[in-house]
Amino acid sequence: MIQKALGQTAISVSAIGQGLSIGSYKTRVGRYEDQVDNIRLGISLGMTLLDTAPVYGDGHSERVVGQAVADVRQEVCLATKLRPGKTRPEEVEASAAESLERTGCDVIDLLQIHWPNPDVPLADTIGAMGSLVERGVVEHIGVSNFSLAELEEAREALPTGDIQSLQVEYNLFDRGVEDDLLPYCQEAGITVMAYSPLHRGRIANGPDHLAVLETIAEAHGATPAQVALRWLVSHEGVVAIPNSTNPTRLKENARSADIALTDGEIERISSACAPKSVEMDTDRIRPAREDEEKVYRTVDQARENALGMSPSPTQLSEQIKGGEMLKPFRVTPSQEPGYYDLAEGRLRYWAWVIAFDGKRPIPVLLDESSLPEEVV
Ligand SMILES: NC(=O)c1ccc[n+]([C@@H]2O[C@H](COP(=O)([O-])OP(=O)(O)OC[C@H]3O[C@@H](n4cnc5c(N)ncnc54)[C@H](OP(=O)(O)O)[C@@H]3O)[C@@H](O)[C@H]2O)c1
Repeated sequence: MIQKALGQTAISVSAIGQGLSIGSYKTRVGRYEDQVDNIRLGISLGMTLLDTAPVYGDGHSERVVGQAVADVRQEVCLATKLRPGKTRPEEVEASAAESLERTGCDVIDLLQIHWPNPDVPLADTIGAMGSLVERGVVEHIGVSNFSLAELEEAREALPTGDIQSLQVEYNLFDRGVEDDLLPYCQEAGITVMAYSPLHRGRIANGPDHLAVLETIAEAHGATPAQVALRWLVSHEGVVAIPNSTNPTRLKENARSADIALTDGEIERISSACAPKSVEMDTDRIRPAREDEEKVYRTVDQARENALGMSPSPTQLSEQIKGGEMLKPFRVTPSQEPGYYDLAEGRLRYWAWVIAFDGKRPIPVLLDESSLPEEVV
């Protein structure tokens, strides 16, 4: 397994780790014993970077991870997170204490802010995390889903040391990180942890892109998923944390690090799998399906924020007006010709509509992929 330094620390982590969103939505759960066995299998194959979070199965993932690492604690890098929206100093303290309790560990190797929280000054959260480092309860600090401006703010707020990692979505469908965050992190020595590295089982964006991966995979006796993972971690400072509940695919993912892609192949993938980014009128996008509950269907509802979303669409619209775009909107072709369904980013969609009064076309990534049958 390829090892990479975690940020500027003396710790090295596996280039291919294990994403452990066990119990989260869309992640299959399976039997508890199998979950423990799978993590242990992954560790034995060298995937020793373990990414969990209190929010995954409401503590379930951390408990499973704790059991899996009990007798191999020194071999793994245990990365967990704060609960989204719970970033006040006292909540940081409580969250870390609960993570330790659930995992049965006495130190968290990497504690990450799961999502930015505009309700709490970043300096307060970072300050509380810094205190945990001073007390030896946490080794290193990372962030997730941060924009460049937020990452810079977090680094400035840390009294000693640095932010060692940034966890963001990065895969062959969503390559937005390459615009600014990746070069910034490479320059600063911050590890980029690519989440959803297999585009949640879709691997790449649609049949054309997949065909390119298949051709290259064939030449190496590998699979398209392995080529996609190897392509990701061929980037300086990038590690990937795929999730799999299937032992065969776990082995496949671990072995992806052994494939020797040539520079030409890496370049071919980069150019052939360019993101399908377009600008679209906001009224061509269907933000919610008919049967969905707890969603806003009109801009007035979004402004009112009766569901108490935090950050609210209006708060987010201020960020968007200030030039911040956290993640691209993604759409899939709708059954109704000429229209598109919003696949992700509903809150941000309404924030965009509020920010520009529905008049400015919205930048979207067009998702043409579909899930292979075995992972539906
Ligand atoms: N920080 C954040 O906000 C955030 C957000 C999302 C995810 N994450 C992290 O990233 C991790 C992974 O993300 P993810 O689960 O969203 O997406 P992912 O790893 O890209 O995809 C997981 C899906 O791919 C399938 N799969 C795994 N290996 C495969 C292979 N070799 N070939 C074909 N299919 C394969 C899995 O099915 P099987 O289980 O059947 O193999 C599962 O359906 C999470 O567990 C979590 O740790 C973080």
